Amino acid sequence: MQNFIQNLPKVELHLHIEGTLEPELMFQLAKRNQVNIPFQTPEEVRAAYQFTNLQSFLDIYYQGADVLIHEQDFFDLTWAYLLRCQADHVIHTEIFFDPQTHTARGIAFETVINGISAALDKARQELGISSQLIMCFLRHLSEDDAIETFKQALPYQDKIIGVGLDSSEQGHPPEKFARVFKMARDAGFIPVAHAGEEGPASNIDDALNLLGVQRVDHGVRCVEDPQLVQQLAETRMPLTVCPLSNIKLRVFDNMQQHNIVELLRQGLCVTINSDDPAYFGGYMTDNFMAVADAHKMTHAELAQFTLNAIEASFISSTEKARMASEVKAYLNHTDTE
Ligand code: HPA
Ligand code: ZN
Repeated sequence: MQNFIQNLPKVELHLHIEGTLEPELMFQLAKRNQVNIPFQTPEEVRAAYQFTNLQSFLDIYYQGADVLIHEQDFFDLTWAYLLRCQADHVIHTEIFFDPQTHTARGIAFETVINGISAALDKARQELGISSQLIMCFLRHLSEDDAIETFKQALPYQDKIIGVGLDSSEQGHPPEKFARVFKMARDAGFIPVAHAGEEGPASNIDDALNLLGVQRVDHGVRCVEDPQLVQQLAETRMPLTVCPLSNIKLRVFDNMQQHNIVELLRQGLCVTINSDDPAYFGGYMTDNFMAVADAHKMTHAELAQFTLNAIEASFISSTEKARMASEVKAYLNHTDTE
């Protein structure tokens, strides 16, 4: 199973680039940029990653991002993630970034996007990994702040395919961002949003109806509303599920309790993703392995996670067909060995 999962072609749709900052790189950048961090060693940083809920993670995650200052830092961060993609056979990735985490510290939007984009271009050429970028608004900040960020993004629209919504879900429901999402949709950005991670199933409904999202990030609390589950199955509305993240942030007590396999078998377009792998203990292969270790699954079911992600991705139908045949060929080949 380990071998099948390791070599299975994968597509990642829920990955925060700031969440790929490994402690070693954090230390390197802190030294390079003369930023003080409240830790002595990378091991000490890892030991601090004991979360009790989403907010306890977000507090430490935003602090970690302070070491990112120059374009080169954003390049190094993104490149390190893309090398992990290569090792995990990730053939396509759609990456979130949080501009407000950086612009609030006086870092220019341009610095962030140019550093990330340069690494994506290099990976396209040298590693054969395709990618898209999705800009997230921080839901704990005001909608006016999100609108300001949206305006800053307009000159870089060729580099950004969509807009998303992340950070603290409790107390910041989708309706708070209805105006900025309409502006973004009208300008041609594809909308997605985190919903139903810690917040109730009604946030998923609202993300669909008030924000017009084309994918739901997390969405695992949909099970609290059976009618919604049926609707998600019938419409093949994708959920970008993050198994290790959900355990680390205590959305589920353990992986046996996680509902991703049940949702897959009910015909929902669920996908496996790593969210913030440097903080949650694993990249794509680790997430697949954790699910397969806790649930008895066939090779075809595991491959279906990738087929779902291809279906849910924001690439051309030609590219989708090419990637799907790569997965099917892999499945046929390994199952006849
Ligand atoms: N939820 C909300 N905000 C986030 C997450 C998440 O899982 N990861 C990074 N920002
Ligand atoms: Zn997330």
